Amino acid sequence: MSAALRVRDLHVTFPTARGPARVVRGLDLEVAPGETLAVVGESGSGKSVSMLAVLGLLPGSASVTGSAELDGRELLGAGEKELRALRGPGVGMVFQDPMTSLNPVLTVRRQLVEGLRAHAGRDGARRGRDALLARARDLLDEVGLPDPDRALRSFPHQLSGGQRQRVMIAVALAHDPAVLVADEATTALDVTVQAQILRLVRRLQDEHGTAVVWITHDLGVVAGIADRVAVMYSGRVVETGPTGEVYASPTHPYTRGLLGSLPDIDDPATGADRADLAAMPGLPPDPVDPPAGCAFAPRCPVADPACAGAPQELREVGPGHAAATRCPVPAAAAVGAGVSRG
Ligand SMILES: Nc1ncnc2c1ncn2[C@@H]1O[C@H](COP(=O)(O)OP(=O)(O)OP(=O)(O)O)[C@@H](O)[C@H]1O
Ligand SMILES: [Mg+2]
Repeated sequence: MSAALRVRDLHVTFPTARGPARVVRGLDLEVAPGETLAVVGESGSGKSVSMLAVLGLLPGSASVTGSAELDGRELLGAGEKELRALRGPGVGMVFQDPMTSLNPVLTVRRQLVEGLRAHAGRDGARRGRDALLARARDLLDEVGLPDPDRALRSFPHQLSGGQRQRVMIAVALAHDPAVLVADEATTALDVTVQAQILRLVRRLQDEHGTAVVWITHDLGVVAGIADRVAVMYSGRVVETGPTGEVYASPTHPYTRGLLGSLPDIDDPATGADRADLAAMPGLPPDPVDPPAGCAFAPRCPVADPACAGAPQELREVGPGHAAATRCPVPAAAAVGAGVSRG
């Protein structure tokens, strides 16, 4: 199946006083229609910057190279007008900072109804004003806003952080996008509302085949919703595969570290428990001077001198499962891979 979003060899470099900061260094990822890809990795690993780069939302000072195709159409290097046309109906975005996704000078009602109208127009199904407004109210209700009518009348700054977050999700979903990029979309929300939103996204995905890129620190959410997971370290994917496979047989020492102190996840679907990425000793690499070899080697408990040599390429370690490490597949992984292959 062709990918809804395919990113190849993405590089993002920012100028800094100390020299160019290579924040994303050869990122590859893709997500198919109807699929959920979770992107995890510690703070500063380049998760948000990658997605902002793909969507053409970084400041002009950033240098971006590589390829990012939305349903086969190249986004990188597209002009602003062309990009808006591709991105508008194609991608719904929920970013860490709600003000990146919401227009501060328009009421929630304007932003929601506009999205719904754009989509209705595309379907050729001209819906009346009242129907659009009713749908807007329903969406706000579905994302758990207690007073949808008040929210509709409000400007973004008149809402609380959690309310803005939910409005942003509703606005992103109003377009019925082919790809939804959600960057820590539910982090600020309590577990009940979070579970409600995850269910809503799942339903839309089932109904419309939405591809979802879900960026999160919350491994409980990953386990609950993601078909596949991509682990980022220092601007690259260091391990990727089906979620169950990666959780059962993490192969890169960084992934093993992240999952190492994972508390029991009671029931990710209901958000009964939350499990954040384990804090790892040591500091992430300096993007101005990234290590030549495996970027994790300086912090890695099992690195040997050869790890500091050539950078590690992703290699297959199980069905659909790849890791960029010289480490052998751990015993549990070898068993898992053997069972599923045979
Ligand atoms: N405009 C900018 N100029 C220079 N450096 C930047 C800029 N924006 C981001 N960076 C740097 O890029 C790196 C990656 O940042 P990014 O926001 O993508 O991290 P992240 O993985 O999303 O982290 P978090 O989990 O905290 O959200 C960081 O080192 C950050 O300081
Ligand atoms: Mg981020």
